[in-house]
Amino acid sequence: MTGISRRELLGTAMVTSALVNARPVFGMALAAAGGRDPRVEALIAAMTPREKAGQLTLMASAIGGRAATALNPPGTAAGAAAQIAAARAGELTGVFNGEGSGWHRRLQDAAVNSRLGIPMIFAADVIHGFRTIFPVPLAEAASFDPGLAQRTARVAAIEAAAAGIDWTFAPMVDIARDSRWGRGVEGAGEDVLLGRLFAAARVAGFQGRSLTDPDAVAACAKHFAAYGAGEAGLDYNSVDMSERTLREIYFPPFESALGAGAASVMAAFNEISGIPATANHWLLSDVLRGEWGFRGLVVSDYTADEELIAHGFARDGRDAARLAFLAGVDMSMQSGLYLAHLPELVASGAVPVARLDEAVRRVLTLKAAVGLLDDPFRRLGAGRERRLVRRPAHLALALEAARRAIVLLKNDGNLLPLAQGQRVALIGPFAAGAHDLIGPWNVYGDDGEAVDLATGLRAALRDPALLTVAAGSGVEAALPGGIGAAVAAARAADVVVLAIGEAANMSGEAQSRTDVTVPAPQRDLVRAVVATGKPVVIVLTTGRALALDDAVLAAPAILVSWFLGSAAGTAIAETLVGHSAPSGRLPVSFPIESGQEPYHYDHKPTGRPQPPGALQPYKARYRTVPNLARFAFGHGLTYGQMVYGDPDVGGGELGWNHTIDVSVLVTNTGKTDASEVVQVYVHARSASVTQPVRRLIAFRRCRIAPGTSETVHFVLDRKDLGFTGIDGRATVEPGRFDIWIAPSAEAGQPAQIELQPPIASASAP
Ligand code: BGC
Repeated sequence: MTGISRRELLGTAMVTSALVNARPVFGMALAAAGGRDPRVEALIAAMTPREKAGQLTLMASAIGGRAATALNPPGTAAGAAAQIAAARAGELTGVFNGEGSGWHRRLQDAAVNSRLGIPMIFAADVIHGFRTIFPVPLAEAASFDPGLAQRTARVAAIEAAAAGIDWTFAPMVDIARDSRWGRGVEGAGEDVLLGRLFAAARVAGFQGRSLTDPDAVAACAKHFAAYGAGEAGLDYNSVDMSERTLREIYFPPFESALGAGAASVMAAFNEISGIPATANHWLLSDVLRGEWGFRGLVVSDYTADEELIAHGFARDGRDAARLAFLAGVDMSMQSGLYLAHLPELVASGAVPVARLDEAVRRVLTLKAAVGLLDDPFRRLGAGRERRLVRRPAHLALALEAARRAIVLLKNDGNLLPLAQGQRVALIGPFAAGAHDLIGPWNVYGDDGEAVDLATGLRAALRDPALLTVAAGSGVEAALPGGIGAAVAAARAADVVVLAIGEAANMSGEAQSRTDVTVPAPQRDLVRAVVATGKPVVIVLTTGRALALDDAVLAAPAILVSWFLGSAAGTAIAETLVGHSAPSGRLPVSFPIESGQEPYHYDHKPTGRPQPPGALQPYKARYRTVPNLARFAFGHGLTYGQMVYGDPDVGGGELGWNHTIDVSVLVTNTGKTDASEVVQVYVHARSASVTQPVRRLIAFRRCRIAPGTSETVHFVLDRKDLGFTGIDGRATVEPGRFDIWIAPSAEAGQPAQIELQPPIASASAP
């Protein structure tokens, strides 16, 4: 692999909220010098208003990446010619999701031959790999290892940059607490600490050591803000929430991304409490620039400025351009409204020319930062793409990441790992074939270049002749004769591997679901196969947390495989046979039923909590189920057997200016070496703002040999116990806290610690 510093993101294996809460100096590296780039200033002085508006106008590439036709308007020769003409006229700042360095080179030739020769910037949605495809971001978060995400983002950047990409619309750092929303697959799940860590890691990976390096791509933290909180899990839907919740839950991953130097931010499609994010001055200017000091570029989402009309916020295109621009959106994606209206808006005085220059300055500064003003062809060297994509080291990393993303939900009777020598029936719509391997939101990947499960299993079994494969069912429709053939295959086997779940196009953008279950025809298949009495291992392909019904839960073993990318089948097969042990943990809670959504482990208590045990009347529970997860956030088994002791908090007293060492004894009573993620959660017994029933504040991964124990320590201070106060500011209050050191968000018994008040001379944070 091309050199990447394996620098641990936060320099320690123990990851705590205090570390990420330390507010970095925001603002991107490219503006760090503070001074203005004379080349940029000379260009601004020479530009016409139309050329300036052109620098703020980004379009989908007329010739698209492999899957881009599904995402962008299909390309035509006329479209390509028009785009080249726009580049030559200086009316196009760049394109996104374009195909290959050859096409990008043609556009760049046109741009450098425009009146002022300002190079174009090439952007792309590089969400989880470019041609080497890594697990979807949600799956990667299951590794609970931000360092892994940094490494995969680095490789994704190396490959993308080799195809001429300067800028990625990633990472998506939206907290996703409603499994009905399809885009949770693109982020790090429901938890704020994980969200912060993965946001920073991915930015560091994409941007590398220096943005000017030819293998760096500028990152874009998206979608600002609260896009994951759309009402009822419906994509693009409105959000209505308190500023405090925005600041406590939805903003922190953005702050971390910016702290890691993210060069740009994408404004979200949704409205927040009545004001669309794309026209939200408070959000984009007061908070992002004023409070956080962000100096990078803000780009709209795809036609989001024009959508201000449909929102009922702007009168027409001119009004939409004005509102978005004045709110703080520097660059318009795809609507063309800035080019159409900004020159006139400036001429009429509706938009100050200084504001226009400021936005242009941000664009040109970004172009300078990624090296384009020095060499417009920096990432367009012929042959680089062929040489640098899908290198063996990249594919090896894809396999490592895929292995580490797999989560073992249950393993009754230690059915897994499978003993060799058994006849295996591999059944289900995801058993074989070049589909649904790389997952949603991939523009350049190819399922045909990924390993399917049947191929993976044939390679992992000592005797591949012992494997039979049957589809059994389609994903959302039954297959004629499918169940009969599957049952026959199961009967003839010693063990069944059932590969079921969601297709790639069932999550991702605009793929909200009301019922987050395995589709009904597949549940029929599971029922029939389980009824054969053969032991069944379920391998669950999914881009979201699913509500697993009794049919699926009847299987003794369940592995969540998400969408694992290029090495999907190899990683799953190696895990099934025990060449690799599962070590992932759920970054999202799997609910009991869909109707619990939005379900997240860190929900608030109510005045009437349902106590453990039988459902009681007039308590916060549903008629038939408690409001708990089926498989909680943080849950994931190993092939070892972990037993936790009670948390040891010493005397339990934490002085205001002191630290406290809390620990737990973890014993591996199993027969296999295992990797455990020990998690620390807290709950403030009483606070000036009610606090979640639990909140993850730290975790540590450790390897424990069979038959041995390890005492796992965490050193905490008062910042780990902080929260966002009613005034929106970081607050720490003395008082009593429950603390769990546990294998998941709903396991274990709490100990108590007491944070002492500051002594008279000490000051609050
Ligand atoms: C998505 C963005 C994406 C953009 C460009 C939009 O539909 O919301 O996340 O970056 O398209 O492809």
